[in-house]
Amino acid sequence: MSDAPKPVSASDGPVAVTGSGGYIGSHVVLNLVKHGYEVRACVRDSSNLLNSAHLSAMNHVGPGSVTLHNCDLTIPGDYDEVFKGCTCVFHAAAEMGNLEGSTPQKVYDGCFGATQMIMDSIKKSGSVRRLVYTSSFAAVGHPAEDGHIHTEDCWADMNMESRPPEKQWTDEVVRGNREVAYAKGKSEAERYIYAEAEKVGIAAFGVCPCHVIGPLLSASHQRPWTWQTRIGDMMEGFAHSRMFWNIVDVRDVAESQRLIAESPDNKNGERYNLVATDESGQIRQTELQSIMQRLYPSVGVAGVFRDGAWRNGPLCVLQKPITQLGLKPHTVEETVRDNVDSLLAWGLITPAQGVDNWQREGKDLGIKSKWWPHDYPAGERSR
Ligand SMILES: NC(=O)c1ccc[n+]([C@@H]2O[C@H](COP(=O)([O-])OP(=O)(O)OC[C@H]3O[C@@H](n4cnc5c(N)ncnc54)[C@H](OP(=O)(O)O)[C@@H]3O)[C@@H](O)[C@H]2O)c1
Repeated sequence: MSDAPKPVSASDGPVAVTGSGGYIGSHVVLNLVKHGYEVRACVRDSSNLLNSAHLSAMNHVGPGSVTLHNCDLTIPGDYDEVFKGCTCVFHAAAEMGNLEGSTPQKVYDGCFGATQMIMDSIKKSGSVRRLVYTSSFAAVGHPAEDGHIHTEDCWADMNMESRPPEKQWTDEVVRGNREVAYAKGKSEAERYIYAEAEKVGIAAFGVCPCHVIGPLLSASHQRPWTWQTRIGDMMEGFAHSRMFWNIVDVRDVAESQRLIAESPDNKNGERYNLVATDESGQIRQTELQSIMQRLYPSVGVAGVFRDGAWRNGPLCVLQKPITQLGLKPHTVEETVRDNVDSLLAWGLITPAQGVDNWQREGKDLGIKSKWWPHDYPAGERSR
């Protein structure tokens, strides 16, 4: 790792955010605007007001500003013009696998191939000196013994020999398994940007969030198979299969990204795990439901189904963003409350009334939400 080029500041010039219309990207844009940046917000379709009006409205928040730019990750060169003159790119766009017509192969290409394309546009810009890439904890978490605590040195392809054949990172498995496609695509994209950045003398950083929840800035962020939507599902009384959460607030993911761009203390290739601060955010779904039940005592928060042992993982604690960047993270209660309150404010959920159905452990209630229309078989879903 070489010394990173000069940190970025709002007075240096514009910055660009890919995936601005998305859940995390929208928070990155808002955070930058609040700190005075001129933000070029890249969206697929700016005429889709359901997905872009909240970004235009950020011009009224200030002191920074937002302009919208239509760009698509599947079209080579589409980001060339937007990146010209920018000092930093925040790359938060990805094919997540929940769009119509999505396949595991498209997820892989939308992580790795698309990030190669973003790097090409950065090189052509001649002005971008920092790239902050929203990778994922999927590029970090690897098979390990119970109790293993992951750090930024962990990569998802460690201990590959202990994965079963259907989870090996072969081309054939990538074509058929979304989780493998995503983890492999994110890992390769990260390694690629660090190597390329070193060659061309810029600095690239990876942000690796686990289960991101917190307030929705647009009703369009109610999307299938997302964690913020699963919170709403439980409030509406839909049960889900058991899950161990490692929770990070979406605002902390956004704040960290700006702090990474502005930090004088980091170097090309540094990674940041964005996860729970301590045990309070590394919790079983039943514990999460207890928090929700406490915050909303009149609501019958739904429980888990499926028998089987709980696996207490992935374990990983948020440290570097606090010690190196000075991040002051939200508490889990604040995160859960603000997620639910935003779903209520947008009119996206009708809370289940007065039943103690959070105790329904072990029973498949046979009711499935349209946001989580079926539960993936074990291991088919990742961060
Ligand atoms: N949410 C989490 O828990 C979590 C955890 C770890 C990592 N991440 C990573 O965080 C990033 C953002 O995720 P998110 O939760 O904010 O998901 P999201 O709301 O679905 O946002 C994804 C964004 O990517 C854009 N996109 C998809 N295909 C595109 C294409 N072909 N061209 C241009 N843009 C395209 C989407 O555009 P539209 O708005 O037009 O659909 C959307 O803005 C992703 O890289 C994801 O892997 C998320």
